[in-house]
Amino acid sequence: MSVSVDPTFVKPGQTQPAEALRPHAEHAFADELAVLAAQDDRPRPARWKLSPWAVATYLLGGTLPDGTAITPKYVGPRRIVEVAVSTLATDRALLLLGVPGTAKTWVSEHLAAAVSGDSTLLVQGTAGTPEEAIRYGWNYAQLLAHGPSRDALVPSPVMRAMGEGATVRVEELTRVPADVQDTLITILSEKTLPIPELGQEVQAVRGFNLIATANDRDRGVNELSSALRRRFNTVVLPLPASVDAEVDIVARRVDQIGRSLELPAVPHGVDEIRRVVTVFRELRDGITADGRTKLKSPSGTLSTAEAISVVTSGLALAAHFGDGVLRPGDLATGILGAVVRDPAADRVVWQEYLETVLRERDGWSDFYRACREVSA
Ligand SMILES: Nc1ncnc2c1ncn2[C@@H]1O[C@H](COP(=O)(O)OP(=O)(O)O)[C@@H](O)[C@H]1O
Ligand SMILES: [Mg+2]
Repeated sequence: MSVSVDPTFVKPGQTQPAEALRPHAEHAFADELAVLAAQDDRPRPARWKLSPWAVATYLLGGTLPDGTAITPKYVGPRRIVEVAVSTLATDRALLLLGVPGTAKTWVSEHLAAAVSGDSTLLVQGTAGTPEEAIRYGWNYAQLLAHGPSRDALVPSPVMRAMGEGATVRVEELTRVPADVQDTLITILSEKTLPIPELGQEVQAVRGFNLIATANDRDRGVNELSSALRRRFNTVVLPLPASVDAEVDIVARRVDQIGRSLELPAVPHGVDEIRRVVTVFRELRDGITADGRTKLKSPSGTLSTAEAISVVTSGLALAAHFGDGVLRPGDLATGILGAVVRDPAADRVVWQEYLETVLRERDGWSDFYRACREVSA
């Protein structure tokens, strides 16, 4: 089979169209990865592009001996990243667990990019994920014409990672039906994938490992079997510990996204970001920041990820239709949309918060008015 050379139809991880709306991490941060590789003189596990120390530095950011700055990708406890990275250097797989929006997908992409130089070996877990997505499938034309053969076999990303000694990612593992999940047990314990139709097997070469992500909220949907869970080291990604930490994360990501979307530069508006983050945290925690007023929480998730998208949309509004400065009026619709998922119950929660908390808050009258205007 010949591979198309159409620039929009490339092999994952091989070519990168300059116009890609969202380049893979290994392309977006190719410069940083190259500098790290050049200066990294610590031992690297087999087939790793970097040492575990350099992988952690890539994720957490830092300054290299020659003064090169590495931007932080993950903002959070250093130990979490160290445990995650060192797990990948063992024969145990890594399970990133946490509520939605705690950067599980983001961290797994950057880990795969830094460890293997390729974050594209990916299985998206859903209730409909079939066994073939984890093991292998068949090219039916080939299969019918010539019977089962290596040529007719379509390897899954997991199988390819085993053969290449690379990192594979499985997103939302707990959404995958239990019997399909269990196909991972042999892969992770024996490090082999039998192909009975061919009387052959694929043996994982050194460097192979797997990162799975799972959502805390899915607990009980398809709980991981204990046999499978034993193959993983679990790392829980926490919500940002403080308002300041969360504002920092949102500001950084909004900057990056704004640049990649080539949004006209809008003065940063850290104060507005702080207000969005404060509102989301208070509603999420069910209590105001000063600890004085108990609140009802809305049904949806108000995570850092939602705050990032509300602020990004606000910046686009401000840039294209506003006066070029991020103002509460640019954020209000987005906030309302994030908070009120269930039109009945959530609206009551929001109105109560708006009228009893935000209305009285010193220095927030412009913000309160903008929110009230869109909430009517
Ligand atoms: N602690 C954090 N450090 C850096 N970015 C974060 C953090 N928490 C959330 N984010 C950002 O939130 C966004 C959503 O994260 P994502 O990986 O999709 O969440 P999850 O997979 O846990 O639901 C990403 O753009 C990520 O950059
Ligand atoms: Mg995710």
